Amino acid sequence: MTENDLNPSGEFERTPGGAILMDGNRLRDEIVARLNERITALGNPHVCLATVLVGDDKPSQIYVRNKRKKADEAGMVSRHVELSADISQADLEAAVSELANDPGVHGILVQLPLPDGLDAERVLDLLPAEKDVDGLTERSMGRLVRGRDGHVPCTPLGVMRLMERYGVETSGKSAVVIGRSTLVGLPQVLLLGRKGCDATPTLAHSRSGDLAAICRQADIIVAAVGVAGLVTAEFVKPGAAVLDVGISRTAEGIQGDVDFDSVQELAGAITPMPRGTGPMTIGCLMENTFNAARMLGALPSS
Ligand code: GUN
Repeated sequence: MTENDLNPSGEFERTPGGAILMDGNRLRDEIVARLNERITALGNPHVCLATVLVGDDKPSQIYVRNKRKKADEAGMVSRHVELSADISQADLEAAVSELANDPGVHGILVQLPLPDGLDAERVLDLLPAEKDVDGLTERSMGRLVRGRDGHVPCTPLGVMRLMERYGVETSGKSAVVIGRSTLVGLPQVLLLGRKGCDATPTLAHSRSGDLAAICRQADIIVAAVGVAGLVTAEFVKPGAAVLDVGISRTAEGIQGDVDFDSVQELAGAITPMPRGTGPMTIGCLMENTFNAARMLGALPSS
C-alpha cells in the first residue's frame, strides 16, 4: 500500500499544533479489510482465533469482545471460552490445553491479567509458539530475541506499524521507551533496535532519574508506563514522534501517559488517546492470527 491509500489527498491529518495524527482506528480498519480480502481470495479457509476470558473484569470483557468482532470482520472465526474467576489452576490449564491440541484452532489469546491466585506463566507455557498470537510466551520472546520467525507481541508491533504507515523515520534515530513490561516495553526495545528498523533505543523506567532530560534527547518516545499525563511538553524535542501506550483509569476517565494537548504543540507526530495504539493491538492480533494459520499449514498456497 502507498501513503495515498491512507489519505487520498496525500496529506496526513494534523493536530491543531501541526503534528501528524497517527490514527490507530483507521490503520486497524485497513489491516482488517486487507486480511478479509486475502482470506476471501484464498477461498475462505477456516481461520480460528480462540479467546479465553477468566473472571468478570469489565475492561477485559470489552477488549475480548472487540477482538472477536474484528476477527469476524476479517473473515475469521472466533471461539470464546469464558471461565469463572474461582476456577482452579488445573481446570484453567485443562481448558487451554484443549485449545492448544485442537487442530481447528490457530490462534489462542488468554486475556490478561488473570484473577488473583491464578498463575499466568503456567498457562502461557501451554501455548504452542505457532498459536501464541499474543507473542507473550517465552518461546515467542526467545524467537524475537534470536531473530527467528514467530509472533511478535501485538502492542509493540502496532507501534511499529503506526510509525511505518505515518512515515516516522527510524533508521539512525534515537528512541526512548518508558516502561519495562514484558507486554510492551521489553519487546518494543527489541523491535526498535533490530535490523531494518535500526533505531537506537533506550529503556527508561521509574528509577531512570531525570526522565524529562532523557526523553528530550529522543526522536521517538514510546510511553508505556501507566502514569496518566507523565509525558509533558518538557519531555519532547521539537519534531519528535510520540506514541502513547499507557492506560490509566482516573476520576476524569481513561487517560494515557502523554499529555496530548501540550505535547501536540511540539511533536512531529503523535498518537491520539483513545484511537491510537489500542486499536492497533487488535489489528496486529488479527495479522498474527492469519500468520498462525499459515504457519500451521491451514491456508491453501496462493
Ligand atoms: N491485557 C492487556 N493487553 C493485553 C494483550 O495485548 N494481550 C492479552 N492477552 N492481555 C492483555
